[in-house]
Amino acid sequence: MIDPYKIRNDFPMYRNQVKMQGHPLIWLDNASTTFKPDSVLEAVSRYYQFETANSHRGDYDLCYQIDEEILKTRKAVASFIGAETQEIVFTAGTTSSLNLVAFGYGAKYLKAGDEILLTQAEHASNVLPWFKVAEMTGAKISYVPLNQDGRLTVANLEKSINEHTKILAVAHVTNVLGYVAPIKELTKVAHAHNIIVVVDGAQSVPHIPTDVKDLDCDFLAFSGHKMLGPTGIGVLYGKFELLKRTDPFMTGGGMNAKFDMCGDVSYLEPPLKFEAGTQNIEGIIGLRAAIEYLNAVGLKEINAHEMMLKKYAVERLSMTGNATIYNPNSEAGIITFNINDVFAQDGATFLNSRGIACRSGNHCAKILLDFLKTSATIRASFYLYTTKEDIDALADAVVHGKEFLDAYF
Ligand code: ALA
Repeated sequence: MIDPYKIRNDFPMYRNQVKMQGHPLIWLDNASTTFKPDSVLEAVSRYYQFETANSHRGDYDLCYQIDEEILKTRKAVASFIGAETQEIVFTAGTTSSLNLVAFGYGAKYLKAGDEILLTQAEHASNVLPWFKVAEMTGAKISYVPLNQDGRLTVANLEKSINEHTKILAVAHVTNVLGYVAPIKELTKVAHAHNIIVVVDGAQSVPHIPTDVKDLDCDFLAFSGHKMLGPTGIGVLYGKFELLKRTDPFMTGGGMNAKFDMCGDVSYLEPPLKFEAGTQNIEGIIGLRAAIEYLNAVGLKEINAHEMMLKKYAVERLSMTGNATIYNPNSEAGIITFNINDVFAQDGATFLNSRGIACRSGNHCAKILLDFLKTSATIRASFYLYTTKEDIDALADAVVHGKEFLDAYF
């Protein structure tokens, strides 16, 4: 069982007793970004203090050392999600990974009349690139209807597929409601119709054990900063044969094998084909440290801790009698709610006055709001260092926020 108080000793944001509005910071915005342990900060700092060099561009020891660090990280990421090393592409984050698939694969193979299936629960990063690709190719966007709770189900996917469907792009864990999609079963159905499955793993890879071979998805995108790593580093996993058929989204140094004045170009094999320019070396090194930290704690344990907190948060917020909870039964450490009769951003501003950081608004999932029948929500999201006390403080603030804001308006 995880001891979040012990874990906090590894995190300067806790050790430094950071305050917000004069109160000890209560960080409940982990679906947005996460704190970094010492080991990640030390790995990044070590690169700048002792190991600075560019990758793949020098015939000297420091450069070889960095190439080695990058390869070690690629192996660590591959092993973290059950992939092969050459199937791991470093990107700037989930958004950049999803854009790479949309433009590098979707724009290349989709044609007028083809269909891309999404859901209403997707984050903007898994909607807008597909809108653009649909505009470029004449493909059509359709949505698998969510069930009454907001879940993506196999039955609804089956009903939504037709002979034009070519791509299914969905989140493994949705960023507002925190439902876990049955990716393995969805993929089975999709593949039976030759549909490529693209998974947004931004909210799943940091929180639940992931095995891409078992899921059998074709592409999976995720970010380092949501899993204790630095910002600006992300990953695109793709089945190697698909990566080979995918065009690079960016071209430049480090990704070509040769080119001449007539414009004849050949690219390197994946993953380097997709990593034009100097890679985010500090981010890559920091990401490995983050993965090592998560592995040492254990993803299963982290998930169990978050589930315990989720259950507790649902109980505590329900007990206030002042909150509408939109996802009491979802399987992620995310609780999305409103303080009754209080606009979400006013509610979040009140929480801020007590040092509590929660996200409010539409959470980049603008097309979900119609489904939720509200204009905005407050989202509290947990991680391995979150405590029951944090949730008590949230519940207490919901009670007082309601009283305060009712009196004010
Ligand atoms: N994608 C992040 C979130 O859902 C920023 O908050």
